[in-house]
Amino acid sequence: MRICVIGAGYVGLATAVMFGKLGHSVVCADIDEIRVKMVNSGKLPFYEPPLEKELAKLVRTRKLKAVEDVVSAVADSSIVFICVQTPSMPSGRIDIRPVKAATKSVGKALRKCRDYKVIVMKSTVVPSTTDSVVQPILEITSGKKSGVDFGLCMNPEFLQEGSALKDSMEPSRIVVGSACRRSGDVLMKLYRPIDSPRFRTDLRSAEMIKYASNAFLATKISYSNEIANMCVRFGIDSGPVLKAAGMDPRIGPLFLKPGLGFGGSCLPKDVKALKDKARSERYDSRLLSALLAINSRQPIEGIGLLETAIGPVKDKRVAVLGLSFKGGVDDIRETRALPLVIELLARGARVVAFDPMAMDNFIKIMPTIEYARSAAECLKGADGCIVQADWPEFKKLGRNEFSKMRQAVIVDGRRCLEPEAVREAGARYLGIGYGPAHRQ
Ligand SMILES: NC(=O)c1ccc[n+]([C@@H]2O[C@H](COP(=O)([O-])OP(=O)(O)OC[C@H]3O[C@@H](n4cnc5c(N)ncnc54)[C@H](O)[C@@H]3O)[C@@H](O)[C@H]2O)c1
Repeated sequence: MRICVIGAGYVGLATAVMFGKLGHSVVCADIDEIRVKMVNSGKLPFYEPPLEKELAKLVRTRKLKAVEDVVSAVADSSIVFICVQTPSMPSGRIDIRPVKAATKSVGKALRKCRDYKVIVMKSTVVPSTTDSVVQPILEITSGKKSGVDFGLCMNPEFLQEGSALKDSMEPSRIVVGSACRRSGDVLMKLYRPIDSPRFRTDLRSAEMIKYASNAFLATKISYSNEIANMCVRFGIDSGPVLKAAGMDPRIGPLFLKPGLGFGGSCLPKDVKALKDKARSERYDSRLLSALLAINSRQPIEGIGLLETAIGPVKDKRVAVLGLSFKGGVDDIRETRALPLVIELLARGARVVAFDPMAMDNFIKIMPTIEYARSAAECLKGADGCIVQADWPEFKKLGRNEFSKMRQAVIVDGRRCLEPEAVREAGARYLGIGYGPAHRQ
């Protein structure tokens, strides 16, 4: 089958590679010339090594290519996945201009075609977007009728950055929302080789499943942070508390770790978008407001922890290790590093930062701080350090690096280091959510 994927981002390229690996011929259409060139040379525009390896193979064997001409790419395909970005606007509402633009290109292509094509919305969009925005644009620009001349589906994506390929090949579930039976059947057939539970719904339910999932994950993280913040004040280590709580199958062990809060391209944006959509229907979601407020406060917990050891950070040199929203990726969208650095600067600290992969991206949004070329250089002369992202290489820091700090104080904002190992290497360890034993 010939498949067109619109948008060569995380979701688009993971989808393209997955279908390429299943033996389909895939064309990836993107308006960004640089991305198109990168994909055609087998390179990803972001850091995701296993996905890049498979992409390179597919490009080499001509199973996958990228083009700038979206209209022709759609015209030559039987199934079209719309995977463009849906970023947050300042109000929290999602910006669907990229979705509208991509949809218009699809409509233009449909106008010229005679065959039945299935258009699949994969971008995360709030309930009713696919039937009340995408469908009318498709029908007006193509002059054709949904459910008759073309099919329309909504197929939310659940992949996590850092494991994009694995999550695409082995998804926890495949949700197929469709406007009509025929288009849903086509998509179900396409996914047949993937051995995962399937769920068929209407378009709006499929859209809402994505938001319900991300709202729950965000709630779980903010819940963990709230419990941890209370544990700390009660003189208790939150680690065993959350671990034991998570052993209840109704709660589950994953995403129950305190930290500096959630970031990334999805959770903050999706929670804000759902809250905004609820508000537009005159429903004030107090739960979503509370979990966002808890999330905004978490970086301050980390700074507070540092200040218990070194006093006010004013005029102190503070090292920030890890700038991406989590270890293993170079994505800085909604990274907690940004509010962390802003708050440190507001308190008068001199900030020096390092990240193994995300530094170039972070410099663009925060050009005024000092950047180090390695974690070791970052720690040199620092009065304290906050580990913001759980990069595995930070675990290797030891006596050599800590001994060059002015004050060897490490705040583990992601509970990713071994407290004993840090202490044995001569530094003071302060872990977020830990009890008194790890705060001395
Ligand atoms: N990144 C994730 O982990 C993830 C996971 C699940 C769902 N999602 C959702 O999937 C969607 C895509 O996210 P992403 O992270 O892949 O985005 P991205 O920003 O990485 O990529 C989007 C791509 O679409 C291209 N594009 C924009 N307008 C276009 C147009 N009119 N025609 C052709 N190409 C166009 C852009 O140039 C860009 O390359 C979003 O709605 C997001 O919420 C993302």
